[in-house]
Amino acid sequence: MINELKEIFYKNYGENKNELFVYFAPGRVNIIGEHTDYNGGFVLPCALSFGTYLLIRKANNSKIKFLSANFDFSANIPINKLKKKINGEWVNYPLGIFNQFIKKGKDIQGMEMLFSGNVPNGAGLSSSASIELVTSFAINELFEYGFDIIELIKLSQKAENEFVGVNCGIMDQFAVGKGKKNHALFLNCETLKYAQIPFNLNEYKLVIANTNKKRGLTDSKYNERVAECKEALKFINKKFTIKNLGELSLETFEEIQDVIPDEVIRRRAEHVVSEDYRVLEAVKAMENNDIKTLGKLMNASHDSLKTNYEVTGFELDTLVYEARKITGVIGSRMTGAGFGGCTVNIIKKIYVDEFCKKVGERYKKITGLNAEFYFPEIGDGVRRLVID
Ligand code: GLA
Repeated sequence: MINELKEIFYKNYGENKNELFVYFAPGRVNIIGEHTDYNGGFVLPCALSFGTYLLIRKANNSKIKFLSANFDFSANIPINKLKKKINGEWVNYPLGIFNQFIKKGKDIQGMEMLFSGNVPNGAGLSSSASIELVTSFAINELFEYGFDIIELIKLSQKAENEFVGVNCGIMDQFAVGKGKKNHALFLNCETLKYAQIPFNLNEYKLVIANTNKKRGLTDSKYNERVAECKEALKFINKKFTIKNLGELSLETFEEIQDVIPDEVIRRRAEHVVSEDYRVLEAVKAMENNDIKTLGKLMNASHDSLKTNYEVTGFELDTLVYEARKITGVIGSRMTGAGFGGCTVNIIKKIYVDEFCKKVGERYKKITGLNAEFYFPEIGDGVRRLVID
């Protein structure tokens, strides 16, 4: 794999004396804690064994060259023209990162880059955060900018907010930056305090199912949900001083929920508060190796995302409800922003084949779409790879 990429790199950019480096950033799957991050709540994602590779080399000129092994679009951009967005292209993610470094007063120098990813795009597995982190991590190291990983995570989120235009929270970038093999990342999105929780699946398997219904985060209802949560907070703030919905316990929310007159906005807030509680319970379940309780919490999470937060939709619901009919399925829910993309399932290993066959067939019959199934391991966060 790396050797093939090296060949593509040299074929396009030629050989010279500057050293070639290879970096990798994973995708992520969120086990539970959906639409809580931008509310200062808790999340529990894992980094995946698939992700984005970046081959990178300093150049002796003032151009940045972008090439992808996945997409036809390539670019050759002079350093003084990095500020312009290129509509609809993958290169906006690395461009967003360059712009953040420029804002921090860093001097950008010429370089040649080849990206190659095996995270399905637009499927809710953070292909974007994976590109952002692989870029920021690599450039920071190559040009010795001196940022630590938490600063790079924050900077990568800002690149997505400010350059790409999605008001995402920090979960994806954090999971991609600080994920750990066979661990889930328990993160408080307000304080950024985190713990890596051992996640031993033993006789169970993590299966990701892709609805293959495409969604674009920017033009989806994601930003609308962010705005609705802000509205809920405004109503609450008329009587109570809190900074984030994530500060409310279930009990307190039940007591004060009537200060939100709008029924839809109240349901949005109810999802956030109850989801936060489920994350705390999920961490306990993981620590006790109680996979069945974890599965129940995942199911409850999906149901709340469906009825209260309304971000699931026909395809995700079909995949989830068909999954739950199969013996050996411990939990099944949508993962990521929703509106399409993937579900995450915990399944007893011996039933995985049957699961894929039956759910695949029924999903096709009901929706006319072909589901795809992935069997990732839980991997480490962004890093440089040693190559020979
Ligand atoms: C997307 C965003 C995250 C998070 C999830 C929903 O993946 O990038 O910040 O809000 O949706 O939990």
